[in-house]
Amino acid sequence: MRILKHPILLIVAMAIAVSVTAQEKTVMHSKNSAISLVVQNNEAGNVQYSITYNGEPVILPSGTGFVFNKPSLRLDSFETIGIDSSANDETWEPVWGEVKSIRNSYKELTYAMADKKGSGIRVNLIFRVFDDGVGFRYEFPQQEKLGHFIIGDELTGFQLTADHTAFWIPGDYDSNEYLYNTTRLSAVDATKAAAKEPDIALKSLYGPDAVQTPLLLKTDKGIYINIHEAALVNYPVMQLNLDKAHLLLSSHLVPDAAGNKAYLQTPFKTPWRTIIVSNKATDLLASKMILNLNEPSVISDPSWIKPQKFIGMWWEMHVGKATWPKAGGKHGANTGNVMKYIDFAAANGFDGVLVEGWNEGWEDWFGNWKENVFDFVTPYPDYNIDSLSAYAKKKGVRLIMHHETSGSVTNYERHMDTAYRFMLEHGINTVKTGYVGRIIPRGEYHDGQWMVNHFQRVTDKTAHYKIMVDSHESVRPTGLHRTYPNWLASEAARGNEFNNAPALGLRPEHETILPFTRLMGGPMDYTPGYFHFQLNQFDSTRKTRIRTTLAKQLALFVTMYSPLQMAGDLPENYEQFPDAFQFIKDVPVDWDDTKILSAEPGDYVVIARKAKGRADWFAGAVTDENSRSVEFDFNFLDPGYNYQAIIYKDAENANWETNPAAYAIEKKTVTNKTKLSVKLAKGGGAAIALTRLASQGKRR
Ligand code: NOJ
Ligand code: CA
Repeated sequence: MRILKHPILLIVAMAIAVSVTAQEKTVMHSKNSAISLVVQNNEAGNVQYSITYNGEPVILPSGTGFVFNKPSLRLDSFETIGIDSSANDETWEPVWGEVKSIRNSYKELTYAMADKKGSGIRVNLIFRVFDDGVGFRYEFPQQEKLGHFIIGDELTGFQLTADHTAFWIPGDYDSNEYLYNTTRLSAVDATKAAAKEPDIALKSLYGPDAVQTPLLLKTDKGIYINIHEAALVNYPVMQLNLDKAHLLLSSHLVPDAAGNKAYLQTPFKTPWRTIIVSNKATDLLASKMILNLNEPSVISDPSWIKPQKFIGMWWEMHVGKATWPKAGGKHGANTGNVMKYIDFAAANGFDGVLVEGWNEGWEDWFGNWKENVFDFVTPYPDYNIDSLSAYAKKKGVRLIMHHETSGSVTNYERHMDTAYRFMLEHGINTVKTGYVGRIIPRGEYHDGQWMVNHFQRVTDKTAHYKIMVDSHESVRPTGLHRTYPNWLASEAARGNEFNNAPALGLRPEHETILPFTRLMGGPMDYTPGYFHFQLNQFDSTRKTRIRTTLAKQLALFVTMYSPLQMAGDLPENYEQFPDAFQFIKDVPVDWDDTKILSAEPGDYVVIARKAKGRADWFAGAVTDENSRSVEFDFNFLDPGYNYQAIIYKDAENANWETNPAAYAIEKKTVTNKTKLSVKLAKGGGAAIALTRLASQGKRR
């Protein structure tokens, strides 16, 4: 890297990329000129950055720096020792994804800085300016004056321009399973919001003025801003403190048991802090900035990594038909029952069957902070894993392993190798992990550096064994699936199982907010596809229900992108509606292209995707509690071809509250000239399967 001693010289050296004034103010415009980044070392020596979008301020000058607990010092006043810039433009292909190839085009600006207070510590601030936002990270190069160090605080700020509308969940070190709140920033109250959520068993709140990322903001001028992070490795999760008087968000790192934030050694790079900006909600959803800020895949031969659609011996426990523990006479994971699931999966083209409650330990698995809870290799006596593996193989279906750690992560780490080998011995190469409850090592949080490193160890080890991972109650994704494509999906948000939570459940708007927030970091195991809505099928005392129409459940397979889709409902409920179930059977889980047709956070999302390696498209639309008409403009279809469209939509009289199962299926021939308007019911949706027919004039 070229480091210049006197920034003023850069006017000549980097005339195209950046311009620098005598006050050491560096300006970098994105390639399309929409985004401008200004970096300035102010009089006090603090390096501040600001961002504008089409000339409109988005982030006002905001501070950078750290408090170290060891060595004990505050690192926020710097002498700039050099400024450098470069540009990059490359295209890469993800192992799986929403699109076939991704363009990574940005300009980079590096501020090399030395502590002004005389410690001799050097740190580089690296910015990448994309057409749709800015990412920046701190780099501590190898250096004489800094080896091991402990972070007490990160001083990164995000100075906002006004009291924007925010889509937020409470800051919490252990849970991200909250419903989203939509309020002005000045009305954020994490304590109050969390108090309405008795169904979240483990909460570690840290104050009323605290929110999590990905955070979505919308300005009164209609600019959408998403704040998150990319490439979270060996560092705690960044949550955000809100100073309401100044509308300033500041980094709040999740602490460890000792109150420290991160134990580091040079050379080290922090995760990227990301700010995605657009005046189009659709462009925000299409952004690939977070993925682009992650490193390329470390898996040289990814041929064993496969997106999957599966079913689960799972919902029956959640709705009270069966139990996880063996005792009590309702044990779900018994050989005969699981054979039926394998039959159903095979008959309907699913790749796998998740089985929960198969192993010893469920009797006292939750709430005891117990260390030796499961060993992950001992099936209950009524679960014949050998014969089931053989049966699944014969039927062309894979069992999916379940490792509920109960938060006892030290225990899991001791058993991991044996457990993964046990899986491979039984032909199982996908594991759903779970981290329900308080973490052991005791005092650690789900989102602290220790757990981030645990998830890394799981990723590395499963990659070694060629195993794919679906993690629940894990840290929310930050685009690491580019680097580790075997980590297919996480829950790490309020998933569909919360439909069965008595207090708040899910609201119809939930799936119109998730794509703008949680999904910006990566795929979610959301478990869509419910066909039965009153959850008192097996327990008449239950009042819980799913606030959706049936057609919306189909649409979620398209709008909630994930390479792992578990059709959540029971086989017998699917059998009630075979014609609607056909969409779930047909919809792929891997795509060559994606078009975000229209979207507004909290209101609706309309998306079309092109099936991997095929000419066929699938589209989905979901709405909140309001009925509305949405338009599908099929201009993305291949010109000169007819497509058969099968439209699964809410019936005229459908309504999530009074008539959720009312749907209509319509067949139509469409072309790239067709514009189709579809009415969505309250809490409803629509799904469309588009099959390309022989070209007009030609025969295929
Ligand atoms: C919570 C997970 O999210 C859920 O899917 C699972 O069934 C239970 N934990 C039990 O492990
Ligand atoms: Ca709404």
